[in-house]
Amino acid sequence: MKFFIDTANLAQIKEAQDLGVLDGVTTNPSLMAKEGISGDEKVLQHYRDICAIVDDNVSAEVISTDFDGMIKEGLALAALDDKIVVKIPMIKDGIKALKYFSDRGIRTNCTLIFSAGQALLAAKAGATYVSPFLGRLDDIGADSFGLIEDIRLIFDNYGYETQILAASIRNSVHIVECAKIGADVMTGPLSSILGLLKHPLTDSGLAQFLADHAKAAGK
Ligand code: E4P
Repeated sequence: MKFFIDTANLAQIKEAQDLGVLDGVTTNPSLMAKEGISGDEKVLQHYRDICAIVDDNVSAEVISTDFDGMIKEGLALAALDDKIVVKIPMIKDGIKALKYFSDRGIRTNCTLIFSAGQALLAAKAGATYVSPFLGRLDDIGADSFGLIEDIRLIFDNYGYETQILAASIRNSVHIVECAKIGADVMTGPLSSILGLLKHPLTDSGLAQFLADHAKAAGK
């Protein structure tokens, strides 16, 4: 399973990269705004800064919602660095844009996926990644893991190479459940990744080992 971090915060991206388990980054306009990044040149420079930290897979989202605008923005983003994956919303012109980029070998991430039908359509259009949003589905009481299972089944039925990028991950349980189902990638906050470290028996076991070592050493 690939691990992406879902943030535009450079310090957190660096911390995750330093762990040695990071495969990429996803951003969105809200996450960029949260970091106070606005204005075309500043946004582009921020993507360059992210690309300088990680090895690959930096999802950069277009703001346009019409085909021509998405193509213009997506080409500019893709030209920044080979690590860029152009993030396109799940709308009608977005499907056309996915096909355009896919035909030209530019990687894409289709975002705001909330149904298996949307994922199927994005895969047909050649998306590299589809991003079903788990946390937001949970928020409205919908079956988020059921959606991942359905998309996995459909992609396996037809051998689609489009990868399932489980997004809107809120905690480590989300990550483990998606791994059990067979999502290819997860993107979540740093806290969800660090949450995988935690177990009370690890903490108490280590404390005991260190205490026994100190006792034996006569400390
Ligand atoms: C995906 O790429 C999105 O950036 C993201 O996962 C949204 O998650 P949220 O529901 O926590 O905003």
